[in-house]
Amino acid sequence: MRILSGIQPSGRPHLGNYFGALRQYITLQTGNESFYFIASYHALTAVQDPALLRTYTEGVALDFLALGLDPKQAALFAQQDVPEVTELAWILSCVTPMGMLERAVSYKDKIAQGLAPNHGLFAYPVLQAADILIYLSDLVPVGQDQKQHLEMTRDIAGKFNQQFGEVFKIPEPYILDSTAVVPGIDGRKMSKSYGNEIGIFDEGKTLKKKVMSIVTDSAPIDAQKDPMISTPFLLLSLLASPEETAEWEARYKAGGMGYGEVKKRLLGLIEEYFAPFRDRRRELEADRDYVRDVLTEGGARARTVARHVMHNVREAAGLPTTY
Ligand code: TRP
Repeated sequence: MRILSGIQPSGRPHLGNYFGALRQYITLQTGNESFYFIASYHALTAVQDPALLRTYTEGVALDFLALGLDPKQAALFAQQDVPEVTELAWILSCVTPMGMLERAVSYKDKIAQGLAPNHGLFAYPVLQAADILIYLSDLVPVGQDQKQHLEMTRDIAGKFNQQFGEVFKIPEPYILDSTAVVPGIDGRKMSKSYGNEIGIFDEGKTLKKKVMSIVTDSAPIDAQKDPMISTPFLLLSLLASPEETAEWEARYKAGGMGYGEVKKRLLGLIEEYFAPFRDRRRELEADRDYVRDVLTEGGARARTVARHVMHNVREAAGLPTTY
């Protein structure tokens, strides 16, 4: 199957990104033909500091590689290395009803968060549809929050096919496990926009401070506690063995355990689990040429597919490039 997904370069990845998405992307690279790209054109709707956008884009490449993306299996590339997607986005725009975009929840959310309502932000779902359709992707692994974008992609593909002939595959969303809603240090869903995240690559004092400041209730040590509503336990259960998780669960329920103790263990687990990824990231940071080569090669692979599909799109829509 052809797998495709994109990540916006808008900051450092956190545990929520890892357990909610990144980990599965890495798993899916084996046995499939996968394309993972850095959605820099999408990020430009909000990040308009060139140095920052560049740093973030390189950062995502480093993150992916450090977490185990194997460039021999998956193509890793930056969106701007396949400029054909912007052409396809225009063509798709012409079969996208305004009403569909006006109903987009992500647009309304972003405006509510204070982002400037530029046209790129409004047209964002059309560009996302182009990203997906241009590779004739079968399966698109995404988080729950992208569900509506995937529905719009399928609708847009259907509209194009109906008008111009069956050029596009209708992709299937693969919505990642909703149990992987990872709580942040304040107990709400871990998210950069809440500022409650623990970064995958955080370490030392920064990491310790974050873990120790995880919000818990004020139940005294000897009180019996409910693990299922306790952030330190929920995070621990993502990292510890099932046996160890069961032991902590029992200790919560028995009483006599303080939150400081479980946080300390959580800190140790985070350090252990992510240490190899951190080391690998440091090595890669020192080998920028390698990272650049990976992106160049991934971009070339992706572009070959995109050009082929664009040829068919142009022919179908009456936009031939040869006469
Ligand atoms: N909108 C996605 C997000 O914010 C990023 C994205 C852009 C994407 N294009 C895509 C995801 C295509 C999957 C497929 O996470």
